[in-house]
Amino acid sequence: MRSLLVTGGAGFIGSNFVHWVLDNTDASVTVLDAMTYAANEGSLADLPEHRFQLVRGDIRDAALVDELVARTDAVVHFAAESHNDNSLEGPEPFITTNIVGTYTILQAVRRHGVRLHHVSTDEVYGDLDLDDPERFTPTTRYNPSSPYSASKAASDMLVRAWVRSFGVEATISNCSNNYGPRQHVEKFIPRQITNVIDGVRPKLYGAGLNVRDWIHVDDHNCAVWTILEFGTPGETYLIGADGEKNNQEVIELILELMGQPTDAYDHVADRAGHDLRYAIDSTKLRQELGWEPRYTDFRDGLEVTIRWYRDHESWWRPQKSATEAKYARKGQ
Ligand code: NAD
Ligand code: DAU
Repeated sequence: MRSLLVTGGAGFIGSNFVHWVLDNTDASVTVLDAMTYAANEGSLADLPEHRFQLVRGDIRDAALVDELVARTDAVVHFAAESHNDNSLEGPEPFITTNIVGTYTILQAVRRHGVRLHHVSTDEVYGDLDLDDPERFTPTTRYNPSSPYSASKAASDMLVRAWVRSFGVEATISNCSNNYGPRQHVEKFIPRQITNVIDGVRPKLYGAGLNVRDWIHVDDHNCAVWTILEFGTPGETYLIGADGEKNNQEVIELILELMGQPTDAYDHVADRAGHDLRYAIDSTKLRQELGWEPRYTDFRDGLEVTIRWYRDHESWWRPQKSATEAKYARKGQ
């Protein structure tokens, strides 16, 4: 891939992808990002000008998307409204960005014959019981629970339809929960780390037994690159690193690593429709494309992430009080 268009490249995973590509390949990158509340320009600071460009714009702007797609070799589509809690408060931008925005990208790659990788989530499959021996596989039935996950499910279906009906060369990946640097403080792990830094007790939704399958963002992004390079158009790949932990365990580990008593957290109001458990079977990605995660020790990965938030307060501080004020209004 010589030139990539990365949508949503100023957000958490997209910005880490841009760094990963510039560090590990020869490709050049154009980011298309609307710079919503979730974007952070600091995530893209000091990148080499001859290989990197930021275009501020909306994936729903068909003329702009067409112009950018026309001069790229491949599109990696991260842009989305991504936070479940926000989708419960106000679903509208989730519908327009995640569904109409993906449609706009699909029409452009179809017109110009450009390769697409669509970045999606394991949440499209709904949730599993705590004691269910099954994990999500590429043939698991779609069963989304929240407006966010329903909008991502719809976007996946559009990609599949454009592959089948119009021969668009697209792959899809459905990944589990990411952690690592440059994640917005509204999300679970950065929220708790920055709360502890601020002397505020971490907040656990409900009983805290919900399980998420954690993967380091660099492992996710390495998998996305592997699929882009070696994946088969039309195929779906599940990305996961066997990182199941319940939320209480994660909070206790954050507290321990930050030198606090492990019971120094509060239970707060639960999320409506809160998915119980996600778990990914990534056998297909590992066996067919040879991908393996590098961050296999969650404790180590979390420790490095905590250090990143301690060392980059100027990156997250501007968002912290407004984010907490929004949670406080909901009793969370
Ligand atoms: P994020 O919210 O941190 O970043 C999203 C980015 O998209 C932001 O920079 C935002 O400004 C941009 N954006 C939003 N609406 C836009 C629009 N209309 N036009 C252009 N840009 C727009 O999200 P993230 O956590 O980095 O997630 C990126 C992608 O990965 C999403 O598609 C998400 O569904 C998927 N995903 C996330 C996770 C996770 O754990 N965070 C796991 C699996 C899949
Ligand atoms: O599984 C992939 C998905 O992971 C992505 O598609 C989403 O974009 C991403 O946001 C993430 O969704 P979750 O809803 O699982 O992530 P979140 O960080 O919001 O919450 C993780 C878990 O922690 C969830 O069970 C809710 C709980 N939680 C969250 C917050 C913010 C708490 O207990 N306390 C909190 O303060």
